[in-house]
Amino acid sequence: MRAVDIIKKKRDGIHLREEEINFLIKGCSSDVIPDYQIAAFLMATYFRGMSYEEVASFTLAMANSGKIVDLSSINGVKIDKHSTGGVADTTTLIVCPLVAACGVPIAKMSGRGLGHTGGTLDKLESIPGMRVSLPLEKFIDIVNTIGISIIGQTEDLVPADKKLYALRDVTATVDSIPLIASSIMSKKIAGGSDGIVLDVKVGDGAFMKDVDEAVKLAKTMVNIGESAGKKTVAVITDMNQPLGQAIGNSLEVMEACEALKGRGNSDLMEVCFTLGSLMSILAGVAKDREEALDLLRDALNSGRGMMKLKEMVMAQGGDVNALEDYSLLPQARFKYELKAKADGYVSKMAAEGLGICAMKLGAGREKKEDRIDLSAGIFLNKKVGEHVNKGENIATLYGNDEKRLQEVLPEAEASIKISGQKESRRKLVYGIVR
Ligand code: URA
Ligand code: CA
Repeated sequence: MRAVDIIKKKRDGIHLREEEINFLIKGCSSDVIPDYQIAAFLMATYFRGMSYEEVASFTLAMANSGKIVDLSSINGVKIDKHSTGGVADTTTLIVCPLVAACGVPIAKMSGRGLGHTGGTLDKLESIPGMRVSLPLEKFIDIVNTIGISIIGQTEDLVPADKKLYALRDVTATVDSIPLIASSIMSKKIAGGSDGIVLDVKVGDGAFMKDVDEAVKLAKTMVNIGESAGKKTVAVITDMNQPLGQAIGNSLEVMEACEALKGRGNSDLMEVCFTLGSLMSILAGVAKDREEALDLLRDALNSGRGMMKLKEMVMAQGGDVNALEDYSLLPQARFKYELKAKADGYVSKMAAEGLGICAMKLGAGREKKEDRIDLSAGIFLNKKVGEHVNKGENIATLYGNDEKRLQEVLPEAEASIKISGQKESRRKLVYGIVR
């Protein structure tokens, strides 16, 4: 077999056989096939796409390029959750402790934030002492004792994705449905859980800008999961405005704690309950949505969800006092309030624009190597549809670089619109793909 023939077939839209796909991925991870040929293949895929069969083989080959995590020593149906990437998506920190409190074992590997999208790992690291890199045995041991652990992806998890993603990043081939789906699903499959609930974000702050594209991505990922023998469900949720109120790492930890104490923002809770009920059903602890919602509400109202988060933080070396006394979390030196210039209703809170502002304040990375300022970010006091009076505080910007704050302030202002008319409430959950 020759790489050039596989590239030519893909270029001409001819269906690739499993052996050809395996050859390509093997050659990619072992550096036998040079980067320029892989890059050419990625571009051909960008234009030609992949059939369900091709993308399933491609994903499995990627998953098998490294070690597959063996979670068989954990009792019960292990459920993973993944978001395709959004702004201020605090859900993992809320929904995973809640479903764990309902008896669903959570052994989750999370990623870091890149660009204007945040990552759970960075958020967890804003808790003093919290360790997100643990030996696999310790990780499994924590799940067996308390029912939940969230750590970073191990070095040898899907090496093919590291290589492919780096090439996609510099060849304008990131936003391709089969390439996104295989990148995400290879890591989920290698993560070893029995079921996967996907949160496919759609809107201005997400990869997928329109619902039809998001449904396509969701169907592709569900299909891959099922071909790999995993129960897989996807929810399509809105990312036209940031989710909840906090954008940034320690700010989102605070937001998650408040949510688990029963004071969560309603949009954020709606997404958490939707994801949580699907996770509980996949795990078999609830038979339907009603029963799942009852269990989740009880875990929330009794404080058991919050207890689970504390148990996990303690088991991973973090300071649980910081989950009560937020002054123990990283604090920004400066804060600026963004005030409404007129009376009216908030009609826009652009997710991407605000995500980029938060990133510039230090909450995110432009490049993989960048260091994050865990205390930086934005807190939204108002959301789309809410009324504001002139002079009222719409959002607070947090940072440690005063000059940066001054630069970002007008950009944040431009991402928010106030109009005379109240908009009808936008949809938050567009649908479920099974
Ligand atoms: N997240 C991933 O892990 N990979 C992609 O390609 C896109 C989002
Ligand atoms: Ca949030």
